Amino acid sequence: MEYKLALIGFGGVNRSLAEIIFEQEKFAGLDIKIVDICDIQYGTVSNRLGISLEALFQQLSDSCGFANLQDGAGDGDAVSCIEKTTADIVVEATYSNPKDGEPALTHCRCALERGMNVVTTNKGPIALAGGELESLAKRRGCTIRYEGTVMSGTPVLRFAEENLRGCAIKACRGILNGTANYVLGRVEHGLSMKQAVREAQSMGYAEANPDADLRGWDVALKVVILANTLFGASLRFEDVRCAGIDTLDEQKIREATNGHWKLIGQVAQKADGGVEAAVAPALVPFADPLSRVDGVTNAITFATDLLGDVSVQGPGAGRRETAFAILSDIVSLARRSIDV
Ligand code: HSE
Repeated sequence: MEYKLALIGFGGVNRSLAEIIFEQEKFAGLDIKIVDICDIQYGTVSNRLGISLEALFQQLSDSCGFANLQDGAGDGDAVSCIEKTTADIVVEATYSNPKDGEPALTHCRCALERGMNVVTTNKGPIALAGGELESLAKRRGCTIRYEGTVMSGTPVLRFAEENLRGCAIKACRGILNGTANYVLGRVEHGLSMKQAVREAQSMGYAEANPDADLRGWDVALKVVILANTLFGASLRFEDVRCAGIDTLDEQKIREATNGHWKLIGQVAQKADGGVEAAVAPALVPFADPLSRVDGVTNAITFATDLLGDVSVQGPGAGRRETAFAILSDIVSLARRSIDV
């Protein structure tokens, strides 16, 4: 089966996606071609038969962008690329402002309006307007997938939706931010919070402005996505009680004798049927599998009626890992079209 993609944004994630597609003749039996790539810095390259990825990787230059490529003539305007593309799936991996989800939200809306399937790794549009985007997709007869928004390539949403189908999930709690987990581990080993953050930045984990990771906002967006996708809630970012690791006392982290301090994001079904979500540092006892999750690794535990606690652990960030999440969404769309 052949799938044609339009890549919106050509930063680390979509570039890794193109690399994996170039390396593997088929991915999970699918013949995946890239017909458009659009990037604000590099411009647009399009070929409805499939862009030559060999030429792309040989000729792409930071100064000229796609201009050296045979098919590279466009100006990098995402909306006009989405309006013209002949792709089956729009892969949105630009960036999003956590306040309004833009510009990624407009790209998703525009593709869905055209009845095109969308795969995105952007938390902003899904956490802020996931319900609206799902309804739009339904109206237009297409689908939006976003596995990579919570734990990058480690399957969480599909694991819960497909593999736990039939179990009632009463709650979930997890370590959903690699940077915060790394920093906590390094503080436990004697570094100051400042030194640990600087180290995380030098390793490429933390952003130049690490507020979203340290103050819990990144996890708050992820728990909104979990709550709304898996628990049928309609939570907004403001509904999440949110505390980060920035105010934790360093000494307290080092002196813990019965567990490790972790930044925990959680969602729970309330007795009245409502759903609540919170983010806060917690001392996790050694007996809890989450206490043994080190470094930038993520993990989540689902509390279910039939199986008890079920945990999933794996990478929660990284370009190739997030590109894998996109591919797993594409495979899931392909399986759906076979099942229909
Ligand atoms: N900054 C995030 C983290 C990246 O450190 O986990 C993935 O959302």
